[in-house]
Amino acid sequence: MKTMKAVCIYSYGGPQALVYEDAPCPHPGDGEVLVRVHAAGINPVDWKIREGQLKEMLHHTLPLVLGWDASGVVEALGAGASRLKVGDEVFSRPDISRDGAYAEFIVIRESEVALKPRSIDHIHAAALPLAGLTAWQTLFTAGGLAAGQRVLIHGAAGGVGSLAVQLAKWKGALVIGTASGSNHAFLRELGVDQAVDYQTVRFEDAVEPVDLVLDTMGGDVQERSWKVLKRGGILVSIVSPPSKDTAASRGVRQAFVFTEPNAGQLAEISKLADAEKLKAIVETVLPLSDATRGQQLSERGHTRARSCCGSSSRRRTGKPTAWP
Ligand SMILES: NC(=O)c1ccc[n+]([C@@H]2O[C@H](COP(=O)([O-])OP(=O)(O)OC[C@H]3O[C@@H](n4cnc5c(N)ncnc54)[C@H](OP(=O)(O)O)[C@@H]3O)[C@@H](O)[C@H]2O)c1
Repeated sequence: MKTMKAVCIYSYGGPQALVYEDAPCPHPGDGEVLVRVHAAGINPVDWKIREGQLKEMLHHTLPLVLGWDASGVVEALGAGASRLKVGDEVFSRPDISRDGAYAEFIVIRESEVALKPRSIDHIHAAALPLAGLTAWQTLFTAGGLAAGQRVLIHGAAGGVGSLAVQLAKWKGALVIGTASGSNHAFLRELGVDQAVDYQTVRFEDAVEPVDLVLDTMGGDVQERSWKVLKRGGILVSIVSPPSKDTAASRGVRQAFVFTEPNAGQLAEISKLADAEKLKAIVETVLPLSDATRGQQLSERGHTRARSCCGSSSRRRTGKPTAWP
């Protein structure tokens, strides 16, 4: 049996639940492609799944390979996969209910894969799919953001926030972003029109009414966000479903988004990256064997832009061998 290096969990728990090991190499089935992973993005959902926070919703079978941001090269096609070809450089946010990308290889449905941006390397490409699709589906699909509208993006320096800021600016919106003061120069580089330091200012006192709030925090931040919405505006959360009753009583709308794989939207994101309208920002690059440290950095909740990416030594050494 062919094996590969992978990071799996056999039980839910803390960082010690992560196991770096030799795992069976998967085979592509009908409509699927086998991708040789060059880099895998690390997202908060990775450690939330590791801890078992989503087990009632996703019903994973363990052992499970973690990581749902991938950039790599198509190695083999399953029966019925015909859009892509072997050797294509691709990226994906694969189905989160299946094995992920902290591995040398991943099998992904062809319908969840797009050609990666040509102008950036795999490490940067792996920072885009999950956070980029989340930003797209919250701002555009759920929120219907249009040119000239005002949007408040919480956690604007984070993985989702930093891409949402750039997508909203590309759409022609006026963007207000929250972050700690140390990130305000970074927010301005991203294009934020008004930066609010959430540690020293209550955003609802500093922000004029907006058409859309993107809530990446939940809890008290979500609750206070109702106050800054214009009548008819929308509160879109990716953390917890906002109250329908509160929305109705205030004459606003609400939505909860759980991001879905979408190759068409990924292709748009790829084009925007190549057109330099969307910049992938990677804070830390780690070997796959150090995925534990990557998750610990993400768990602190203060990473700038995409948390970190595992990358293979193959890219750096040119050797067609395993991860370090
Ligand atoms: N529903 C979905 O499909 C979906 C998809 C993606 C993500 N999510 C969830 O959305 C959340 C954000 O994800 P992410 O990838 O963007 O996380 P992330 O990259 O880890 O976010 C870190 C950022 O949050 C900022 N931050 C922390 N506390 C803040 C506060 N009170 N106000 C404003 N900013 C604050 C930090 O800025 P400072 O360092 O300046 O404090 C940091 O830049 C996570 O809970 C994640 O699980 C859900």
